[in-house]
Amino acid sequence: MAEGWSRRQFIERLGLAGLAAAVPLTLRGTKRGQENSPDLPKIEIGNYPKPDRPITAVVCGYGGRGGYYGWMAGQIPEEWQIVGVAEPIGYRRDAAIKLHKIAPENTFTTWEHVFNRPKFADAIVVSTQDAMHTGPTLKAIEMGYDVLLEKPIAQSWRECEAILKAAQKNKSIVGVCHVLRYAPYFMMMREVIRSGMIGDVVSVQHLEPVEHHHFSHSYVRGPWGNKRKSNPVILSKSCHDLDILAYIIGKPITRVSAFGDLSWFRKENAPKGAPMFCSEGCPVEKTCPYYAQDFYVHKRKWDTHHIITPDRSDPSILRELEKGQYGRCVYHCDNDVCDHMVTNLEFGGGATASLQVEAMFAEGGRRTRVFCQKGHIEGDMTVMQVVQFEPGKVHVWDGRKANVDLSGHGGGDMRLVRDFCQAVSKRDANLLTSSLSNSMESHRAGFLAEESRLQGGQPRGVRRA
Ligand SMILES: NC(=O)c1ccc[n+]([C@@H]2O[C@H](COP(=O)([O-])OP(=O)(O)OC[C@H]3O[C@@H](n4cnc5c(N)ncnc54)[C@H](O)[C@@H]3O)[C@@H](O)[C@H]2O)c1
Repeated sequence: MAEGWSRRQFIERLGLAGLAAAVPLTLRGTKRGQENSPDLPKIEIGNYPKPDRPITAVVCGYGGRGGYYGWMAGQIPEEWQIVGVAEPIGYRRDAAIKLHKIAPENTFTTWEHVFNRPKFADAIVVSTQDAMHTGPTLKAIEMGYDVLLEKPIAQSWRECEAILKAAQKNKSIVGVCHVLRYAPYFMMMREVIRSGMIGDVVSVQHLEPVEHHHFSHSYVRGPWGNKRKSNPVILSKSCHDLDILAYIIGKPITRVSAFGDLSWFRKENAPKGAPMFCSEGCPVEKTCPYYAQDFYVHKRKWDTHHIITPDRSDPSILRELEKGQYGRCVYHCDNDVCDHMVTNLEFGGGATASLQVEAMFAEGGRRTRVFCQKGHIEGDMTVMQVVQFEPGKVHVWDGRKANVDLSGHGGGDMRLVRDFCQAVSKRDANLLTSSLSNSMESHRAGFLAEESRLQGGQPRGVRRA
């Protein structure tokens, strides 16, 4: 991450390391340090052949994600190189130029300018905010680039279809950053299901507890709080969840229905006398979990990356908070996305799943239960138990014992980039684990879920065999 922290770093800085380590103990019967079961299927991780030459890319939007893809170039220089940048914020653009030694002619203040030049790289990374995905992606495809596209694909189903159509017409390789597909934990979950050791999936219960600090930063004060500026939360946050459910179940999503609302982060719930900005003398500043000056500086509850100032010192951040976007009272923002949403999904063949996206929880990390014909799986993104009803066996997979790197979305981020490099170098979109075409399923379901929610939970979609 450009200036950010990993989730683990946050937890450690907050003194919550004990909490993180304790997570797996919530899985009944799983002992700390237990060795991984040899009876679980084997998963292939990280065996990507090196391309003949590094794949070169231009990053459009050198923010949190763009900077992270930039950082990866230093980790896998024989596979991935950044040769251009488009970024309006000076200090971010300068950081990219310095790190990647980008030539002045390959440096731009906005994505449109990249395409005024003839094609000069293999790929474009589209890591601008959600509302700015369609423009650069369509233009990149038109100019013959391959594209590494941040999720969600776009802000409407129609735009998603337009991007797919253009990519098919131009034979572009478009990877969508559904990083969970590359996380060893979900790879193992999928392999257990595919192996048949516990039969077919009957149903799934999946929880995405966004965590209240994270939610208040990203989905209240931040870039994903307002549907018009980004997307409904079922897409902006949980296209990952819809995608991973479709991936592990391995069947198309046929119908969806959803309920949800914005219950807590609204003006009616503002404490009496709470001003628009925390800096204006809030009567509850000592007890409010979201009091901006503590949240970002004194107690450092969340990363300050999205707060724009070249001077990253505490006094400078505090100045920005006085009247800036992230200094706003969380009950007086322009947010309108749900802070809780329940989506029910039906899959081809009859399997079902429920997906809950929840703001109000003290600790992030997806929890999943998969109910199968002859057993079940229960996991918390670090540890997974696989139970076979007969002969009553419990198999354990613990990511910390699996000798794999779990940093960056459970280890998914780096594999995503390597997978993309491989597909581009071999000119074969079918090599992608997270391609544009197979990402359409989750997006269709997401847009239908929002439609259903707005229509009082009416099922949407078409029942297929
Ligand atoms: N795959 C994942 O797990 C994951 C995680 C977080 C975010 N995301 C997605 O990645 C995208 C970026 O998120 P982020 O947190 O990095 O946001 P960010 O705000 O940190 O980065 C976006 C960057 O785009 C730049 N930008 C704005 N206008 C531009 C223009 N005209 N041309 C070029 N650049 C421009 C901004 O200045 C900013 O630096 C979002 O769509 C988000 O949903 C994906």
